[in-house]
Amino acid sequence: MNKQKISKRKITSIGVLTSGGDAPGMNAAIRAVVKSCYQKNINPFFIYNGFHGLVNNQICKAKKSDVGNFICIGGSKIGCARYPEFKKIEVRKLAIKNLQKHGIQALVIIGGDGSFMGGHELTKMGINCICLPGTIDNDIPIGNRTIGFDTALNTIVQNIDKIRDTSSSHHRCSIIETMGNTCGDLALYASIASGAELVSTPENKKTIPEIKAAVLNAMKAKKSHVLLVVSEKLYNINELAIEISESLNISTRATVLGHVQRGGSPSSYDRILATTMGIKAIDLLTKNYKGLCILYKENKLITVDILTLHQNKHLYNHDLYNYLE
Ligand code: F6P
Repeated sequence: MNKQKISKRKITSIGVLTSGGDAPGMNAAIRAVVKSCYQKNINPFFIYNGFHGLVNNQICKAKKSDVGNFICIGGSKIGCARYPEFKKIEVRKLAIKNLQKHGIQALVIIGGDGSFMGGHELTKMGINCICLPGTIDNDIPIGNRTIGFDTALNTIVQNIDKIRDTSSSHHRCSIIETMGNTCGDLALYASIASGAELVSTPENKKTIPEIKAAVLNAMKAKKSHVLLVVSEKLYNINELAIEISESLNISTRATVLGHVQRGGSPSSYDRILATTMGIKAIDLLTKNYKGLCILYKENKLITVDILTLHQNKHLYNHDLYNYLE
C-alpha cells in the first residue's frame, strides 16, 4: 500500500465528478461522498459532466437531499464526459481557476484509468485528488473489481439466458458480442456464468478456424444450441455468422449487446462497493492524502499511487479462461 501524505491543510470543500463512460454504481459512490462530507462538516460540490464541466464551471454545491434515491439509479446523475483536451496544461489551468472560485481544495474522481491521470495532474497543481474505479470494463490494474462490472455482467448473463432460449428452440449457433474495450473480463466471466461453448477475448483471441472447430464439436456432441461469446472490436460478428452458417450448415445469428450493458439499476454488490469506496475517499482526503486511487483487491479496499497504477497492467484471469478450454 502506498500513501502520499502532505503537510497539514484543512480541507473544507470537496468536489465530485464522474468521467469517461458511465457505470452502474457511480451514483451510489456520489451519494456516499456527499453524505460523508456532511458527516465531517465539509462542503460537497457536484461537478457536472466530468472534466469538461470542470473547465466550463459547471459546479454547484450539493445538498444532502440532492442524493436521495441515488443508491439505486444507474448511469451518472451528474453526467459523464470523455474529454481528452484535459491533457493540455492550459485547459487544466482553467479548471484550477474554477475550483479556486468555489473554494474547492480536493476532488473525488470516479472513472476509468484515463481519468485518473487527470487526477494525478490536478494533484500536482495543488488540488488533492482521490480516484475511484468506475467502469463496466473491470480493466483497472492491480484491483479485482471496478464499480459497475458486476451489474454489467449480470445484464449480459440475463441477456445470454434469453438468447439461449430461442437458440435452443431453433438449434442455432448464437454469437454474442460484449463490451469491455481492450479487456476481456466481461466476455470471460459471462461465458463462465452462462455455460458458453467458446469465449474469445483480446487476451485470448480465437482464430476463425478455432471458432469453427468449437462449433463443430458442439454439433457433434448434439448440443441443442451453440453459444459463442466474443469481446467487442475483435470481429465483424454479422460476417462471422454468415461464414459459420454457410460453411458448417448451422443456422447462426449474431447479437451485439451494446449499451444495454452499461445501463440499469446497480446490483447490491456494486452499491456496496461504491458506497465503501466513496466513504474511504472522504476519509483519506480529510487526513490529507492525495494522488491516490482506491481499489478493491482480495476482499478489501487498498490505496495505490496513481502513477504506480499506470505502471501496472490489469491481470487477466487465465485460470478461469483455462477452465473453459
Ligand atoms: O469504457 C466503457 C465502455 O462501455 C467500453 O466497454 C466501450 O468500448 C466504450 O465504453 C464505449 O464507449 P461509447 O459509449 O463512447 O461508445
